[in-house]
This record gives sequence, structure tokens and C-alpha cells, in this order.
Amino acid sequence: MKYTSNPHFALDSSRLIYGCMRITGDNSSDDRQKGKLAIRTAIDEGYNHFDHADIYGGGACESLFGELLKESPELREKMIITSKAGIRPRVSPTDYAPTRYDFSQRYILDSVEASLTRLGIEQLDMFLLHRPDFLMDAHEVAETFAKLKASGKVKAFGVSNFSHSQVELLRSVLPMPLVANQVEINIHNVDVFNNGVLDQCQQHGIMPIAWCPLGGVAYSAWGNTFSVADEQRIENELNQQAEKYQCQPWQVILAWLMCHPVGIMPIVGSTNPTRIADAKAALLLNYSREDWYRLFEARNGESVP
Ligand SMILES: NC(=O)c1ccc[n+]([C@@H]2O[C@H](COP(=O)([O-])OP(=O)(O)OC[C@H]3O[C@@H](n4cnc5c(N)ncnc54)[C@H](OP(=O)(O)O)[C@@H]3O)[C@@H](O)[C@H]2O)c1
Repeated sequence: MKYTSNPHFALDSSRLIYGCMRITGDNSSDDRQKGKLAIRTAIDEGYNHFDHADIYGGGACESLFGELLKESPELREKMIITSKAGIRPRVSPTDYAPTRYDFSQRYILDSVEASLTRLGIEQLDMFLLHRPDFLMDAHEVAETFAKLKASGKVKAFGVSNFSHSQVELLRSVLPMPLVANQVEINIHNVDVFNNGVLDQCQQHGIMPIAWCPLGGVAYSAWGNTFSVADEQRIENELNQQAEKYQCQPWQVILAWLMCHPVGIMPIVGSTNPTRIADAKAALLLNYSREDWYRLFEARNGESVP
């Protein structure tokens, strides 16, 4: 494993973050066991940064992680634990209130408290606002973050799925730095390479974290618009590069993300122990600029101008 230092964490963060969104599967006893094995494998393989959200498994993912920490409390101090809140799902199909985003102070403070209880810990190493609330009051968020910091419940703060201007707005009122922007980056969704988000990360030392890094190729991305011909062209290029680098096609995609000088940190979401371990091979590829553009061209179906 490789590690990245960040002054806002007590530990250097593993370059590959382990994503806990899938660790409870269908919440059957078998899937929960599989999830615990996945976490233990990640730990054994050197991952020390774990990504959660209050809504993963409806809270069950944080609870399962909390169970594991209760079994092995010594693990806590060797970990960076991130969680998110701000998406407020509709409770039942007949509920008057729809799924909505909610950055109101009461909701965020209660959500953090609930995450800490489920995880069985005193402090989140990092808290992220999950998706931009269309009704966000940046000053209220600043006050909420200040309270969470003062109470010791959160060490560092960041955002997820925020645009360049939404980050700028928060940065202008927050009494602390924004440490991360967790955004979708994969072969299907390449928006951040050209919408200012990665430039902003590079400019201000914000950690760019990539969710669903394999979306669009290893499995269907959200809102996938690739045609069969697109997929074939991308697969051909990936296969050629995998042969060149003596690795598997999905490892090429991780290397493609990580070769960007901003230092993208992919979140590995597999619950398959072999894939969790094998993802690390991507850290060793000496991936070239020419191959980055070849894959970009295959993805776009045309050369850059
Ligand atoms: N901030 C946000 O809005 C947001 C949104 C979504 C996710 N996230 C975070 O990002 C993390 C990662 O997302 P993700 O789970 O979508 O990541 P991912 O690592 O891109 O995808 C994992 C999924 O792809 C499958 N997979 C991986 N390699 C494969 C292969 N070679 N062939 C076929 N299937 C393959 C895995 O199945 P196996 O388990 O069988 O390997 C698993 O279902 C989540 O855990 C969560 O922490 C954040």
C-alpha cells in the first residue's frame, strides 16, 4: 500500500480508500459475514481509510463496522474513519416528505451523533456533506461545523459531489479548511477533468476522492450512456493496456485515475477479498501520459482536437 500525508489527519491515509457502501449486501447473515471479511481483508492489505455514509444500508453498514470495532477495539487508532450525511431519504412510499437534501444544523448535528453511535466511536476523522443541498445556507453550515469541531465530534471536514462554485462559497465562510471533495470519477464520468473541480483541488490542496472508480466498465455506471460499440472500443483498449502492463483491465482504470498529478484517491468498493488485495497492483504501474490519452480517446470515440 502507498500512503498520502495530510496535515488534517493524525495518520497518513492509504492511497486506496476502502468504501463501505456494499458491506452488508442484502443484510443477510451470510452477506454480513462477507462484509466483515472484506473489512478485515482491507485492513490486512494496508487500507487504513474507510468511507461511510449514514444512509449506506440504511445505517446497517456503519453498525456492522461498529460491531467489528467492538470485537477488535485496538483497530480504531490505526484508522481514518470518514462518514457523510445530508441526504434524507423518504421514509415510506406514502410519506409526505420526499427524499431531500438537508444541511440544516439540527439535522446534521443529529446525523453525526447517530453515525458515532452506530460506529461506536467518539470522533469522526472526517465528515463530508454528501450531496449539495439546493437550500444550503453556507453560514449555517459554518456554524454547524464549528460546533462539531468544538465538541470534538469531528476532526476534519469536507464535501462530496460539490461543484467548484459550491466549494468556493463554503470556503469563503468556513472557519476551517475543506479537506476533501469526494466526486464520481470513472471512465464514464470524466466531468471533473474539465469542470474546475480538480483544478480547485490542486490549487487549494483539497483531497480529490473518486467514488465508483470502476463504474461504466467493470459494472454499469449511474446513468450509463455508453453504446455497445463504445463499450467494445473501451474494452479493446483496456485489454491492450492490461497486456502491456501485465495486469487486469480494471487495474488499468485505477492507474488511469491515479496518474493525474492532483493525486486522486480511488475508493475501492469491492467486497471480494481477492479484488480488494489485487487493487494495490495499480499503485505499482508506471502508467504513461500516452496511455492516459489513448484510453481517453477510446472513451470519447474521437481524438482530442
Ligand atoms: N459520495 C457519493 O455520492 C458516493 C456514491 C457512491 C459510492 N460512494 C463511495 O464509493 C465507494 C466505492 O463505490 P463502488 O462500490 O461503486 O466502487 P467500485 O470499486 O467502482 O465498484 C465496486 C463494484 O464493482 C464490482 N466489481 C469490481 N470489479 C469488478 C470486475 N472486475 N468485474 C465485475 N464487477 C466488478 C464489485 O463487485 P464485487 O464486490 O463482487 O467485487 C462491486 O459491486 C462506496 O463504497 C462508497 O463508499 C460514494
